Amino acid sequence: MEKIQTAVKTLREKGYLVSPEAIDQLKKEENPKELAENVDKKTPESKAVIEPEDLKKKKKEKVKVKGSLKEAESKQYETDIEILKKDISRESTSKGEVEDFVENFKSRHRKIHKILRRRGENSAVDIERAKDKEGDMKVIGLITEKKTTKNGHVFMKLEDPTGLMKALVPNNQKELIEETDELVNDEVIAVEGHMGNNNLFIINNVHCPDLPVRELKTTEEDIAIVTTSDLHIGSKYFLEKNFESFIEWLRGERGNERQKELAGKVKYLTIAGDLVDGVGVYPDQEKELTLTDIYQQYKQFKEYMEQIPDHIQIIIGPGNHDAVNKADPQPKIPPELIEGLEELPNVTMVGSPAVVKLHGLKLLMYHGTSFDDIIPQIKSASYENIKGVLKKTLKARHLHPIHGEKPMTPEREDHLVIEEVPDIYHTGHVHKNGYDKYRGTLCVNSGTWQEKTPYQRKIGHKPTPGKLPVVETKTGKINVLRFDQGINKEGVREKGEAA
Ligand SMILES: [Fe+2]
Ligand SMILES: [Fe+2]
Repeated sequence: MEKIQTAVKTLREKGYLVSPEAIDQLKKEENPKELAENVDKKTPESKAVIEPEDLKKKKKEKVKVKGSLKEAESKQYETDIEILKKDISRESTSKGEVEDFVENFKSRHRKIHKILRRRGENSAVDIERAKDKEGDMKVIGLITEKKTTKNGHVFMKLEDPTGLMKALVPNNQKELIEETDELVNDEVIAVEGHMGNNNLFIINNVHCPDLPVRELKTTEEDIAIVTTSDLHIGSKYFLEKNFESFIEWLRGERGNERQKELAGKVKYLTIAGDLVDGVGVYPDQEKELTLTDIYQQYKQFKEYMEQIPDHIQIIIGPGNHDAVNKADPQPKIPPELIEGLEELPNVTMVGSPAVVKLHGLKLLMYHGTSFDDIIPQIKSASYENIKGVLKKTLKARHLHPIHGEKPMTPEREDHLVIEEVPDIYHTGHVHKNGYDKYRGTLCVNSGTWQEKTPYQRKIGHKPTPGKLPVVETKTGKINVLRFDQGINKEGVREKGEAA
C-alpha cells in the first residue's frame, strides 16, 4: 500500500490528478513508482487526470551494471531460467548393496529401452522370448561383456530383465565390426539378427539409442552463455591473474570493443565443477596447495562470484575435487561450505548432472568424471580430442555408461540416463577445451583455470587453461576467448589470434 501512496504522491507532485481506475491499475503493478515516474515523458502537458492507459511501462533501456560495463544488452531481457533437474542425489535411496546395482541396471535398461522404442525399435522382443523365436528379430539388452575372438568375431553378452544371451557379430561383417568397436560395457543397445545354434544370437545390425537428428535450436534473444569449469582455487597452479582478467572482462573492464559488446550479451554463466582444488583429494596434495583450508578455498571462490554483475545468472555444479560425495550423481555443494553464496541473488547451486532451461534451451551440465573410464575404451576419443567422449555419451544416452574405476552410486533409478535431449551439453573435468555440434546439440568441454600440474606433466597431458567458450544463443556461435599466457594489452584474445 505504501508503494501506491508513493506513486500517487509522485504524480500529484507533477501536477496530475489520478483517477480511481488508475489507482486500481497501480495496485496491480509490481513497481508502481516506476510507472508514476515515467508519466512525465510521454503524457501531454494539457492532461489533468491520469487514466490507466497513461500508465505504460517504460521500454527497457540499456542500464548500467556492476563494473564499468556501460550498456549490457542482456539486461533488456528478463531472466528466463527453469531448473529441470537440480540435485538428484536428494532423492538418493542407495545403500550400495547388490540389490541396488540390480535395480540400477533394470532402471537403465527400462529408460533406454523407452528411448530406443521411441526411435523406432518398437518391435523388440525380450531375451527370454528371443530364444524360442525363429527368423529375424530385434532385442534390446545391456552389454555385460564384449570381446573380440581370435578369429576376429565380436562376441557379446546381452542382458535384460528376462535373461541373458550370447551374441556374435561375424568377422565377415567388416562395417558392423567397426561400429561395435565403440561399444562399451554396461551400455544398452538394440541388436537385429536371428537366433543361431546353441542359443547364440547372430547380429546383423546394431542401433544405439543416440540423439534424434535435429537443427540447432537458437533463441530470439541476443544473449550469451559463458561456460567454464575446473577453477581449482587453492592450488598453487590456479591461474589467479588470468581468472581475474576473465571477471574483469565480464564486468566490461577488459577487451576490445567487440569483446566488450560480447560481455554485454552475457546473461548466464555455467560452472561445471572443480571450483576448488579441495583437500586430501590425492596423496601429498597439501604440497601443491596455497590454501590448505577448504573453507578458505571456497571463500575465495565466493569473493569472485560477488564481483560478477548481478544481471548475470550463475549456475554452479560440483566436480570430483569439490567437498561433496564424489560418486555420480553428485549432490550440490552444501551452503555451509560456502557461507552466503546461495544468498547472492544471481546464484543457483545444482548437482551433477543437472538440466536447466535457459530461454527455452535445455542445457545439460555434467562435470565429466566418467570420461576417465570411457576415454581408454574408445578410439574416437582421447585427452587430446575430447569431443569424441561427449559424442559417445550422447550416442549411448548415458553420462556414465561404464561401471569402472570412477565411483557411481547405484541408485534404484538411474539418474545418469540422458532422458531429455539437450540443446547444449556442457562438461569439464579433463581440463581440455573442445567443442562440437552433434545432431543439433552444441557440445562444450570448457577447459580449466589451472596450469599444467606436475602430475599432468608426468602423464603427458596438455591442459588448455584460460580458454573460455562463450555461446551466442541467437546464432549458436561459440566464441573462444583466451585469457591464457601471452594475453595482449587488452587481456583477451580470440581463437586464432596470434599471441
Ligand atoms: Fe578439474
Ligand atoms: Fe574433475
